[in-house]
Amino acid sequence: MIKLLQRMETELAQAFEGAGYDAELARVTVSNRPDLCEYQCNGAMAGAKRYHKAPIQIAQDVAARLAHSPVFDKAEAVKPGFINLDVSGTFLAGFLAEMGTMEKLGVETAASPRKIILDYGGPNVAKPLHVGHLRSAIIGESIKRLCRYLGHTVIGDIHLGDWGLQMGLIITELHKRKPELVYFDPAYEGEYPQEAPFTIGELEEIYPCASARSKEDEEYRQEALAATHEMQQGRRGYIALWKQILQVSVEDLHKNYEKLDVSFDLWKGESDVQSYIPDMVRSMREQGFAYEDQGALVVDVREEEDTKEVPPCMLLKSDGAALYTTTDLATILERMKLYDPDEILYVVDKRQELHFIQVFRCARRTGLVKPETDLRFLGFGTMNGKDGKPFKTREGGVMRLENLIRDIEDEMYTKIVENRSVKDTDARGTAQVVGLAAIKYGDLSNQATKDYIFDVDRFTSFEGNTGPYILYTIVRIKSILTRFSEEHPDAKPAACSPAQILPPVSESEKALMLSLAGFAPAVENACEERAPHRLCAYIYEVSNALNSFYHETRILAEEDSGRQASYIALLLLTRKVLETGIDLLGFSAPDRM
Ligand code: ARG
Repeated sequence: MIKLLQRMETELAQAFEGAGYDAELARVTVSNRPDLCEYQCNGAMAGAKRYHKAPIQIAQDVAARLAHSPVFDKAEAVKPGFINLDVSGTFLAGFLAEMGTMEKLGVETAASPRKIILDYGGPNVAKPLHVGHLRSAIIGESIKRLCRYLGHTVIGDIHLGDWGLQMGLIITELHKRKPELVYFDPAYEGEYPQEAPFTIGELEEIYPCASARSKEDEEYRQEALAATHEMQQGRRGYIALWKQILQVSVEDLHKNYEKLDVSFDLWKGESDVQSYIPDMVRSMREQGFAYEDQGALVVDVREEEDTKEVPPCMLLKSDGAALYTTTDLATILERMKLYDPDEILYVVDKRQELHFIQVFRCARRTGLVKPETDLRFLGFGTMNGKDGKPFKTREGGVMRLENLIRDIEDEMYTKIVENRSVKDTDARGTAQVVGLAAIKYGDLSNQATKDYIFDVDRFTSFEGNTGPYILYTIVRIKSILTRFSEEHPDAKPAACSPAQILPPVSESEKALMLSLAGFAPAVENACEERAPHRLCAYIYEVSNALNSFYHETRILAEEDSGRQASYIALLLLTRKVLETGIDLLGFSAPDRM
């Protein structure tokens, strides 16, 4: 489907050409004087020099040719040479009728669909999920849905941190607590027990305890480092323990992500690519990329244009141990081998930017990726508390994700109960749905790269640019539609087709129609830029337009049945636009709230 703006440009191009001017001048933009017109074209200004004419004259020539245009109600030349444009209501109604019947509401499938590996989530096994993990999950999930909607193939990989020091710490602490376990007996050759020697609750207590102790007790830290090393070298008992830590922890992660309505296609982790490392490193050495520097093995990744120092990419420490960087390089190698993607997109904290610059450059230089494979880093900012500092609990600790979600749900529950006149047993269920929207929209409506303030009061408000406000708008539409079917048992609202949409009779109705027509460009642009906040801004605009229309229009009391059917069809289309939009953002609306 051709976009509204493009249709206007095509119409305008004909007028420019017909009047003897270059069609290229026919660029249409949203008016910067909405009090005067809806759209404008400044092409006459641009053409003045070329045609040695006053811009107003060109504008008049063009406007004259648009006097009977089916696309515009108004095409007016104004000084010094603007062309002010209003879309024809009839044309607009026809446009929405067409859009409404299309499966994706006019969104065009990407001309060259890509295979994208999306690296997001990135939780660390055995450590509780905390607020720092929220953004990656929320932003990644929305980008995944957006890209799929446009026809790209997206493979979402959680990329677990499952091979690091936290494993050694847990092993060490467990050893202190239960030295009798067979896992610690180097002479043991039998099978290890099926069942883990800890529950998730215990595991969550063990890790912070071990981590705290390692910071105070150097000897303990050394033990944990040694245990990590032994595990990485494949010590049987430790590998068996590692598997159990992984299993117990992943089961818990599944639950947590499910609650967030975030899912992954691959549950791979750092451990999965360790076997690639020796060969990869050898090859980088043989090809002359990797060299020894003070005992460590490094690859230079500086570039001439660098204004800031980019240190060499370290592959192996002097003790031969691989690093975070090495693992990420091996992961790229595996992804190329198994999936051959067109793009790998990382949704990770922006404080890791340098790491990714090094990894990407090293991967390119050493030929791990094809020249045409895109490596993209979407670094997101920090989620801060109201004091502008990284979000903490009241006690000053790192906020666990579950607790954050619970707090928001409680707050939503209170507001929903206050808001209702009748008691509803399902207020809890509704609070969950709305709470998730509050969190996700609160996050996504900010440009990802920026830090933002997580403000519980604001995010849970039913007013303003918030998730609950968007849901409230959808619920409002649903309730009008319900009332309509109650009053007209014979005329099912769903039977009102987009073809019944009539030209608008009020400004607020036209504004709503114009904003609906912007769905496809908004979605395509949000996907193209990997920027869900653009979709949020669009959805907010539609919600505002709907609410103004609602306040100014007597929909259910309308006596002209054709006009009423048109309103209902418009509401149905608005609902579809909003519901599709929030689904692309990763949440949904309740039936009432
Ligand atoms: N586990 C890492 C962390 O918590 C994030 C992983 C990001 N992805 C990656 N491929 N490095 O910081």
